[in-house]
Amino acid sequence: MKAIVYHGPGNKAWEEVAMPTIQEDTDAIVRVEATTICGTDLHILKGDVPAVTDGRILGHEAVGIVEAVGAGVKTVKPGDRVLVSCITSCGSCRYCREASYGQCIGGGGWILGHKIDGTQAEYVRVPFADTSTYQVPPTVSNEDVLMLSDILPTGYEVGVLNGRVKPGDVVAVVGAGPIGLAAILGARLFSPAHIVAIDLAAARLDAAKRFGADVVINNGTEDPMVRILELTDGFGADVAIEAVGVPDTFELTTRLIRPGGHVANVGVHGKPVMLHLEDLWIRNVTIKTGLVDTYSTPTLLRLIENHQINAGLFVTHHFALDDFMEAYDVFARAGDTGALKVVVTREA
Ligand SMILES: NC(=O)c1ccc[n+]([C@@H]2O[C@H](COP(=O)([O-])OP(=O)(O)OC[C@H]3O[C@@H](n4cnc5c(N)ncnc54)[C@H](O)[C@@H]3O)[C@@H](O)[C@H]2O)c1
Ligand SMILES: [Zn+2]
Ligand SMILES: [Zn+2]
Repeated sequence: MKAIVYHGPGNKAWEEVAMPTIQEDTDAIVRVEATTICGTDLHILKGDVPAVTDGRILGHEAVGIVEAVGAGVKTVKPGDRVLVSCITSCGSCRYCREASYGQCIGGGGWILGHKIDGTQAEYVRVPFADTSTYQVPPTVSNEDVLMLSDILPTGYEVGVLNGRVKPGDVVAVVGAGPIGLAAILGARLFSPAHIVAIDLAAARLDAAKRFGADVVINNGTEDPMVRILELTDGFGADVAIEAVGVPDTFELTTRLIRPGGHVANVGVHGKPVMLHLEDLWIRNVTIKTGLVDTYSTPTLLRLIENHQINAGLFVTHHFALDDFMEAYDVFARAGDTGALKVVVTREA
């Protein structure tokens, strides 16, 4: 079979590799019908994630058909159409029993395309198949459900739920990439008074409007602080979600927040960030961090099934598996191509 194989910083190839096989009796082999590329894959390709070593198949998002299962798999069988989650869950460790699957210490967590071979391939081995895959209802399309592998639960859990978005809130989302946009979709479920999207890229701010932000601010040309204070009678945002992952934007969220408000950091940070406790200590602000756990996947799947979340909004480009290298190129040049999520399928 073929797969996208990482060969050190800056190098990857769509190349012939061995078919995955069942290694543990809790494994499933899934025939990938659709997969996609995450901003984190681009981080890996820059060399920012040293745990990913030469020869690793990338990717942590997929939907596919179960090809084979180990003897210990009880709820998943060959022929089932399943979502492969970016987070694998052993189901029995301390963290899994608290639904903190991202922190799994029993062999799960974020392992696909990181510590073990991933989903950007014709077939993928999924450990702990019973607790790491989700049956897809027949009315939900492959490409809609694919948005549940990573971005929708990430924006919802780490942004919206950690940020405690409530009806009537003013929610500031800093960064309108796929993750920030997922946070906007999730925030809308709670009927906030305003969703303010803040980004440097005009195309991303246009996308934010399509996703339901009613105020958009280009912080390259306008001070978001002024608009947020206007919108909130001088208080500041009730919730500020950081969805970029650089020091400036984190500091911005801690300035935009009102006393008593919630900052939710979603961005992956590669550098030290200043925490201005000299200003914050008196403001009763809560700051939450998090890796996605994917405990919300069943809820979000029901919302997609019932048309309360339009996952199709994310999909900007389609490619066939054999054009995977081009899909990477288009995704990596999102500023020029307008790419949000590129869907790579067996038959494009
Ligand atoms: N915590 C988790 O579990 C988790 C999971 C997945 C992704 N992430 C992280 O979430 C972050 C966002 O992911 P994404 O895929 O949407 O990334 P992305 O790169 O597509 O989007 C980031 C957006 O931020 C904007 N931006 C950059 N600098 C800015 C600035 N100074 N001010 C305002 N906007 C700025 C960019 O224009 C872009 O639209 C990344 O750091 C990613 O690694 C975290
Ligand atoms: Zn991802
Ligand atoms: Zn576990």
